[in-house]
Amino acid sequence: MIVALLHRLSEKLPRVVHRLSVMMKPQVVFVLGGPGAGKGTQCARIVENYSYTHLSAGDLLREERSRSGSEFGQLIETYIKEGKIVPVEITINLLKKAMEETMKADEKKFRFLIDGFPRNQDNLQGWNTVMDGKADVKFVLFFDCGNEVCIDRCLERGKSSGRTDDNRESLEKRIQTYLQSTRPIIEQYEKQGKVRTIDASRSVDEVFADVKNILEKEG
Ligand code: ADP
Ligand code: C5P
Ligand code: MG
Repeated sequence: MIVALLHRLSEKLPRVVHRLSVMMKPQVVFVLGGPGAGKGTQCARIVENYSYTHLSAGDLLREERSRSGSEFGQLIETYIKEGKIVPVEITINLLKKAMEETMKADEKKFRFLIDGFPRNQDNLQGWNTVMDGKADVKFVLFFDCGNEVCIDRCLERGKSSGRTDDNRESLEKRIQTYLQSTRPIIEQYEKQGKVRTIDASRSVDEVFADVKNILEKEG
C-alpha cells in the first residue's frame, strides 16, 4: 500500500517540479503592431479578464523620462519625438526591474504582456542577452492595422493624450520606424511559428473577441 503510494508519488514528482519551475519563470507574450494599432487598449482588456500584468515599454520610457534625477530624460524625449527606438540598455533594465518588482510583490503574477517590445534588432538582442533562459516567450500578439488607420487613431488620441509624438510629423517617422525596424522582427517570429495575427482595424470589441480566442487556445 505505502510502497504503491510512494511509487505513484515519485512518478508525479518530475511533473510537479516542472510545473513549479514554469510557474516561477516569467511567461511572456510580446504585443506588437503599428503606433495606434490598439496595443494598449487590448492589453487593458486582457488584464481585466485574464491573469496578466501589462508592461508597456513606451509607458516605462515615458515614466523614466519624467523621473526626477533620471540621467536619460533628455535622450528619451529626443528619441520619442523623433519616433526612434531608444537604446535597449535603457529599455531592458526598465522592463527587467518592472518584472522583478511585480513577481516580488506577488509570486502568482508571472504572466506578462510586454507591449511595444522588441521593436528592432537592438531590442531583440538586448532581450536575448539579458533575459535568455530567465523568461519564456510564449508567442507574439500582432495587431495588424493599416498605416492610415493608425495615424488617424493617434491624431485623435493626440487631442487629449499630451504625448509629444501624437502629431503628424512624429507619426510619419514612427510609421517609418515601424515598417523598417519592427516589421522584420515580426517576420522573424513568424518564421518560428510564434506570431498570432489579429486584424486590428475593426472595433475594440471585435478585436478583443479574436484576442480571447487566441488566449484561450494557448492556455
Ligand atoms: P497603441 O498602444 O497600439 O499605440 P492605443 O491602444 O493607445 O494604441 O490606441 C490608440 C488610440 O486609438 C486610442 O485613442 C484608442 O482609444 C483608440 N483605439 C484603440 N483601439 C481602437 C479600435 N479598435 N477602434 C477605434 N479606435 C481604437
Ligand atoms: O509604444 P509607444 O507608442 O508608447 O512608444 C512610444 C515611443 O517610445 C516609440 O515611438 C519609441 O520612441 C519609444 N519606444 C522605444 N522602444 C520601445 C518602445 C517604445 O524606444 N521598445
Ligand atoms: Mg501604447
